[in-house]
Order: sequence, then C-alpha cells, then structure tokens
Amino acid sequence: MDHFAAELLTWYDRHHRELPWRVGPADKRSGERPDPYHVWLSEIMLQQTTVQAVKAYYEKFLARWPRVENLAAAATDEVMAAWAGLGYYARARNLKKCAETVAAEHGGKFPDTFDGLKALPGIGDYTAAAIAAIAFDRPEAVVDGNVERVVTRLFAIDTPLPAAKPVVRDRTASMTPEGRPGDFAQAMMDLGATICTPRRPTCALCPFRAECAALAKDDPERFPVKLPK
Ligand code: ADE
Repeated sequence: MDHFAAELLTWYDRHHRELPWRVGPADKRSGERPDPYHVWLSEIMLQQTTVQAVKAYYEKFLARWPRVENLAAAATDEVMAAWAGLGYYARARNLKKCAETVAAEHGGKFPDTFDGLKALPGIGDYTAAAIAAIAFDRPEAVVDGNVERVVTRLFAIDTPLPAAKPVVRDRTASMTPEGRPGDFAQAMMDLGATICTPRRPTCALCPFRAECAALAKDDPERFPVKLPK
C-alpha cells in the first residue's frame, strides 16, 4: 500500500468521526458492512449541505423509509415535504426517481460499479465514486473540495483550480489503496474537515505533517491556489 494511505488509515482508525451513516473500522472488524441505500442517501444529502445539517434529515428519512423500496413507493409530495429545508430541491426529485429506478429495474439493489451507479438519476462522477468506494470497496478516486485541499497542500500543487483538477484526481487515484478504498475516501474527507481546514489548519496533529510539501514551505493556506475572480 502507498505509504500515505497506510499513515492516513492508521490515523482514521483512531480519529475518525462517528457519523450516523458511517460504519466505522471497529464495526467493520465485527463484520458489519455499509448498506448501499444508507451510503447513497447520505451522499445525496451531503452534496451541497453540511454534515451537521444533514444528520437530522438522514435519520428522519431512514425512520420513515427504511428501505429503498419504501422510498420508491412514497408519494412525491411527501418526499419533497420531508426534504424541505435542505435546499437544492432537484436533489429530492432525483432522489425519488433514483429510488424508483433501483426498485423497478435493479430488484432493489444498487449497482456495485462506478458506471452502473453513474447511470442512475442524480448520481454524477463524485457521488458514483463515493458510493462505489464506501459501499462496495471499489478503489475509485473520490475527490471533493476537502480532498482537493488536502492533496494540493500535500504536494504543493501550484496550478490554480479548476485547472489542477486532473492532477489532483491522478494523485488521489495513485494514493487510493485496493484494500480499504472506502475508509481511505472517508479519512481524506475527515482530514480535510477537521485538520486540513481552509484557515488555520492544525498541522501539528496531521498524519502527513512530516511529508506535506505546503507545510515544508510554511504556507499551507496558500493551497489550493485559486484564480482571482
Ligand atoms: N461529505 C460527503 N460525503 C461524506 C462522508 N461520507 N463522510 C463525511 N463527509 C462527507
């Protein structure tokens, strides 16, 4: 395994966030597997909404529609009403369509590959990669804003965003381990959310502090470089 991945996973085992949709390392050792419906629901909700705001909605949806078939059979206006407050309502309409497709065309089981997932309503590159990695242990590169920040700092990538995106994707892909790609993806998100923050990152606690190129230059906040607006 890539040494970055090994260090990050060791950090994740100790410091990962407990989130309602997450199956943590200890639970996985006891044989628990992530439920693709749970992973999908959380990833759709998290697309444009903070972890803190999503928690209550996620619990409410699962209590009301415990399985994808239940959501598929729900009245659209009930789903829209339950979504109220989360914003970006196209997500809710696609959520319902996606549930219907999975129930009607896939026997209630989410496809277990990037391409199969990406063909579903409301699932783009990021979400397909996230579900494939987290729910199905596929070694997909999962790149969101947090991961862009971590990777541009780790390698001091000077190219501004969005031009740096392909470089970030390649770097993330080469770091992603075959063994625990879902934990790796979530560890990168946690690192970006809790340590490698946009302002005043807590580099002293970072598992990458010895090899971070931006920290070596004494200037992590300079990355990612953005073009002036
Ligand atoms: N943001 C998007 N997906 C996430 C996840 N699985 N865990 C934490 N934050 C996220």
